[in-house]
Amino acid sequence: MKELAGKNILLGITGGVAAYKSAVLCRDLMRRGAEVRVVMTEAATHFITPLTLQALSGHPVHSELFAAEAGHGMDHIELARWADRLLIAPASAQTIAKLAHGEADNLLTTIVLASDAPLLIAPAMNNVMWEDAAMQGNVDLLLARGVTMLGPASGDQACGEDGLGRMLEPLEIIEHLQLQLQPGLLAGKNILITAGPTWEAIDPVRGLSNRSSGKMGYALAGAIYDAGASVRLISGPVHLRSPHGVDCINITSAQEMADTVMANVSICDIFVAVAAVADYRPANCVKQKIKKNAETLSLELVRNPDILAMVAALENAPFTVGFAVETENIIEYATQKLTTKRIDLIAANPVSGDNSAFDSESNELTLIDRNGISHLSRCSKTLLAQKLTKEIAHRYHETHPAKDS
Ligand SMILES: Cc1cc2nc3c(=O)[nH]c(=O)nc-3n(C[C@H](O)[C@H](O)[C@H](O)COP(=O)(O)O)c2cc1C
Repeated sequence: MKELAGKNILLGITGGVAAYKSAVLCRDLMRRGAEVRVVMTEAATHFITPLTLQALSGHPVHSELFAAEAGHGMDHIELARWADRLLIAPASAQTIAKLAHGEADNLLTTIVLASDAPLLIAPAMNNVMWEDAAMQGNVDLLLARGVTMLGPASGDQACGEDGLGRMLEPLEIIEHLQLQLQPGLLAGKNILITAGPTWEAIDPVRGLSNRSSGKMGYALAGAIYDAGASVRLISGPVHLRSPHGVDCINITSAQEMADTVMANVSICDIFVAVAAVADYRPANCVKQKIKKNAETLSLELVRNPDILAMVAALENAPFTVGFAVETENIIEYATQKLTTKRIDLIAANPVSGDNSAFDSESNELTLIDRNGISHLSRCSKTLLAQKLTKEIAHRYHETHPAKDS
């Protein structure tokens, strides 16, 4: 398994508790064939010794900008030119702030400025630090410049809190890197993807919706973009930032989503329906807020358009991928959906008990197509999105060989 053979990865390590994971990251990058050089900030050396990284990478660790013994005193330029990818893991709040503002006051930040290699950043910090407005502003600046943000993930933190800010696991970081370094997977393809819930208005202040957070769809849109495709995302109301490089159209209701999909579907090679679209909507949205005068209230609901079935029934239908969310008989219902709607691939996920896919950071999927059933085991939605991207690309290329020749 030498997926990263011949690739030069500059691994930047900054001062955070997650620096201990960088040793595993370094070892696993090398196991996959990558050449790794390590640059540590001064703060990072308080958390893990340069000797450990030197032993693992087989090369001296660089941390001094003004190191007299370095080749011609130009370490930063040599390393900047050498790297195919700059990967900073963990990336501290401090280093992220410096990078966002183009500062170059240590070896690592100077290399980033001096290099035109794509930059990947795996943030790791306390959840309150991560959510701070200044921090998020810095992340926005970096995203707008095309920097890839890997995570952070949610969960237990070294500070005792639970929330968003954990560094992604080394394996997840490597999956991202591999996807970026094989951009041909869906290169040149146009993908249309829906995500999030829909909102069906009852009156001006109330509506029917569901628990979809949009996280799976957004992660998938990002992973498909990383695989080289042009991605248009049609999203219901969510609290998520658009993935870098993805063209996002915001809608509210199922009817708006159906209209927007049908207006965009003709240009796409693959359609992925991740959105949790309401099956029904109130027959009438009343203009004024409904008062609570009566003891009971009945709502008449009418069927919404079945977007996936509409797309799959088109004469020149794209390769269609649907998501099935079920609380019971997952395989049976998903298989029915596959055959009745004539979809190419169904990704089924359970929503029961602790394993609920809704608003969770992790998920698992059962993939069903005409050839059978396979399973993608539970992991973060980011990693799952990458795995699913590979599965979609593999099936698409198998069924569309003529288009690619
Ligand atoms: C015990 C300890 C743990 C820390 N953990 C983190 C962390 O996880 N993330 C972070 O952004 N900063 C953390 N810090 C603060 C950074 O080490 C500090 O901001 C430092 O200046 C970062 O410098 P650098 O970005 O040059 O590595 C921690 C500090 C201490 C003392």
